[in-house]
Amino acid sequence: MSLPSPRRSRGRPTGRPRRGALAHQLGGWLVLGLLGLGAAALWASSATPTRAVDSPGQTSQSTIDAGARLFIQSCAACHGAAGQGTSVAPAIASVGGAAAVDFVLRTGRMPLSAPTQQMQRNPPAFDETQIRELDAFAATLGGLPIPSVDVTRGNISRGQSLFIQNCAACHAATGAGDAVGGGYVAPRLDQADPLTVAEAMRIGPGAMPVFNPKLYSQQAVDDIAAYVQYLRHAPSPGGFALAEVGPVAEGFVAIVVGLGLLLLVIRWIGRPRPGAAGAGANGGEAGGRTDGPAESGQRT
Ligand code: HEC
Ligand code: HEC
Repeated sequence: MSLPSPRRSRGRPTGRPRRGALAHQLGGWLVLGLLGLGAAALWASSATPTRAVDSPGQTSQSTIDAGARLFIQSCAACHGAAGQGTSVAPAIASVGGAAAVDFVLRTGRMPLSAPTQQMQRNPPAFDETQIRELDAFAATLGGLPIPSVDVTRGNISRGQSLFIQNCAACHAATGAGDAVGGGYVAPRLDQADPLTVAEAMRIGPGAMPVFNPKLYSQQAVDDIAAYVQYLRHAPSPGGFALAEVGPVAEGFVAIVVGLGLLLLVIRWIGRPRPGAAGAGANGGEAGGRTDGPAESGQRT
């Protein structure tokens, strides 16, 4: 995935005062260090989380059986022993099969504790192995397979326009989420990894519509997933971190912090030093005030 480089310009100090080779050198290293820290912070969070997904061939009968047992224990009371649906909960195949089961389990939406409870994101109730087992069982019930997604094939700027057109009305342009009426909330997308985005598009959980593969190709899914990842990790305007205060505030923070530090460094380098060649009035002042060796320095 190629991230657009952050649009943040850094002022470069020009015409540094040439006083004291050591101070000059130290100042240079300090500036370099600050720039390095900034760059490191920008890129540290750009790693994309990945999750190994079973290839269908790997699913053994014992995995499916383990999933069936978990389903009976935790899901059957509402969804029926064979996931056929009951008066209180839908049939698993009709809501998206394995894709929907993987989605609701990884995002902690299921199991509900009461059929009237509204689905919402929670810490997952099952570990990764159990989720794989429940997914495997769900795959035998029909419905959609777990979709594939590859953000390295996605194009972020295409993803951005697709997101604005198709998702922003509910999730907001920054992915910060919004109420969509009828008591439903389109959640923030700052926890949505690429697979979660692909699954949500294909199954249309709750009040979210299904994004049909005939109209939204694999490429569109990859593009949108790549853009959501970009939103999650981008330190730039429009990202989550400063979504509430906006890009102007971010620029303000950059200027105050960045320029403030640079000014401190410049001031420190430009500090008068006794005994420096050509110090003129400063040198005379320092000489008049100190009795000791000139190197004793003058700390102001
Ligand atoms: C207490 C009852 C209850 C239990 C237990 C329960 N569910 Fe559900 N489930 C529901 C109800 C009700 C809905 C419909 C929710 C809605 O549409 O808002 C639902 C919806 C779903 C959906 C569709 C979500 C969507 O995309 O709209 C899936 C998939 C699902 N359940 C899987 C499971 C699995 C797997 C388990 C067991 C780990 C489970 N459920 C346990 C009541 C339950
Ligand atoms: C009509 C409003 C609506 C639109 C349009 C919509 N969503 Fe959603 N979305 C929702 C709602 C509501 C939920 C929560 C479903 C639930 O759990 O009941 C949701 C949930 C999600 C989730 C799960 C988030 C998580 O971390 O648990 C993802 C990911 C997501 N949407 C992505 C998208 C993407 C990508 C698009 C555009 C292609 C989109 N949505 C378009 C309403 C919408």
